[in-house]
Amino acid sequence: MEPVKKDLILRGQQIYLRPITTEDTELAVRWRNQPSVVVNFLYRKPITRKDHENWLANKVMKGLVHQFIVCRNEDDKPLGSAYLQNFDDESRRAEWGIYLGDEQAYGKGVGTEAGHLLLDYAFNTLGLHKVVSRVLARNTASARMSEKVGSIQEAYLRDEYFLDGQYEDLILFGTFNPSEQIASDKEG
Ligand SMILES: CC(C)(COP(=O)(O)OP(=O)(O)OC[C@H]1O[C@@H](n2cnc3c(N)ncnc32)[C@H](O)[C@@H]1OP(=O)(O)O)[C@@H](O)C(=O)NCCC(=O)NCCS
Repeated sequence: MEPVKKDLILRGQQIYLRPITTEDTELAVRWRNQPSVVVNFLYRKPITRKDHENWLANKVMKGLVHQFIVCRNEDDKPLGSAYLQNFDDESRRAEWGIYLGDEQAYGKGVGTEAGHLLLDYAFNTLGLHKVVSRVLARNTASARMSEKVGSIQEAYLRDEYFLDGQYEDLILFGTFNPSEQIASDKEG
């Protein structure tokens, strides 16, 4: 994949998504280390500034990750981040993720709108066929948000990860390009 075009804006009703830049580094590191975010992620180790700079240089700038900052329309306040990663060009598949660093933005439809914008970009701009996500089963906000944007639960994996001293169940969600048919649906 080519890197995201620098001037791309994905505009919604209450928020817009813009490509992440090096200027977002301090914020992104802070958000990513916040307990409310970390507890819902599979990767739990603290992220250093250097880790994030390496991620930007080796993943984002090379187009291996398409990462955006979610901003509020009314005052451009950055609220969180949304991204596509693990692109499989042959299958036209990627994995998506969203986190809000601004806890005051929770539960106001921001995550759902960011999800819609990111998936619209994935399907209509990048032409992907399928976008997947991995959600810890106890993360009801993320699971509900996934359903609201049209994701389908494809698997429920029990005790899939041992995190911070306990086993966690995982839900695998799949979201399909609405303008394409699912191959197995054509049969019969
Ligand atoms: C997951 C996340 C992005 C959702 O964004 P959000 O803006 O808070 O969610 P929305 O306001 O769009 O709500 C989506 C749905 O989830 C529900 N929901 C939101 N927070 C909830 C909570 N704490 N518990 C249960 N349901 C919740 C909403 O009610 C809504 O469903 P409804 O319309 O049926 O009522 C956000 O909570 C977050 O960043 N969490 C921390 C990081 C994270 O978990 N990222 C995902 C990792 S897989």
